[in-house]
Amino acid sequence: MPTCRNLIIAIDGPAGSGKSTVGRKVAEHLGYFYVDTGAMYRAAAWKALQMKTPLDDAAAMTKLVRDTQMRLACDHQQFQISIDGVDVTRAIRAPEVSEASSRISTIAPVRRELVAQQQLLGKDGGVVMEGRDIGTVVFPDADVKIFLDATPEARGERRYNEDVHSGKPASRELTIEAVRGRDQRDASREASPMMPAPDAAYIDTTRLTIDQVVEKILALVAVARGTSSSK
Ligand code: DC
Repeated sequence: MPTCRNLIIAIDGPAGSGKSTVGRKVAEHLGYFYVDTGAMYRAAAWKALQMKTPLDDAAAMTKLVRDTQMRLACDHQQFQISIDGVDVTRAIRAPEVSEASSRISTIAPVRRELVAQQQLLGKDGGVVMEGRDIGTVVFPDADVKIFLDATPEARGERRYNEDVHSGKPASRELTIEAVRGRDQRDASREASPMMPAPDAAYIDTTRLTIDQVVEKILALVAVARGTSSSK
C-alpha cells in the first residue's frame, strides 16, 4: 500500500548541473521544504571574508561556523538565507564567495558542523535537500537519491547565462574555467568528496529541459512512495 510518509529527497551534483532550479521545483510540487546546503557553505564563507578569517585556518573557521546563526526559508521557489539576522541571499552568489566556499568545504570539522545542522533540518522528512554529499553522508538512507550531472561546458554556460541575466559582468571562458576548478576541488578533497551514492539515480541534464528533469525525479518519488510503505 502506498505511504503518505514525508520523504527525504537527496539531490547531489556539481555546480551548474541544475540542482537548485530543479530542487526548488520538485519541493514546490510536493509541498516539501527545500534546503540548498551549498548556500550554507557559501554563507559561512561570506562571513569569513567579511571578518577576514583566514579560509584555511580550520580551528577559526570551525568556531566561526559554530558561532553563526543560519536561517533558511523557501517560498514560491524563492530561496532565502540569512546569517546572524543579515539576509545574504544575493551576496553569497559573488564569484569570490563561490571560490571561498569551495575552499572552506574541504575542512572536515566545518563539514561536521554543517552536516549536523542539515540533518536536523531534514530529520522529519518532507524535504528536498541538495548539495554534494547529501546521499552519501548527510542522509545515506534518503528515500530518493539523485545525482545530476552535465558536461562542464554546459554547466559553465548555464552559470555564465545566470550571471549575465543578473547583470553581473562575466566572461564565458573564465566562468567555464572557474566551474572546472571548483569541480576538481570538490571531487578530489579528502573530506566527503563529491560523488554519486552507489544507489543514486544518475541523470545527465546536458540535453534535458528543467521540466524534463523535474518529471524524471517526480517519477522516482512516485516509485519510492509506492514501495516505501514498510519503512
Ligand atoms: O552548490 P554550490 O555551488 O552553491 O556550493 C558551494 C560550494 O560548497 C561548492 O564548491 C562545494 C561546497 N558544498 C559542499 O562541499 N557540500 C555540500 N553539501 C554543498 C556544497
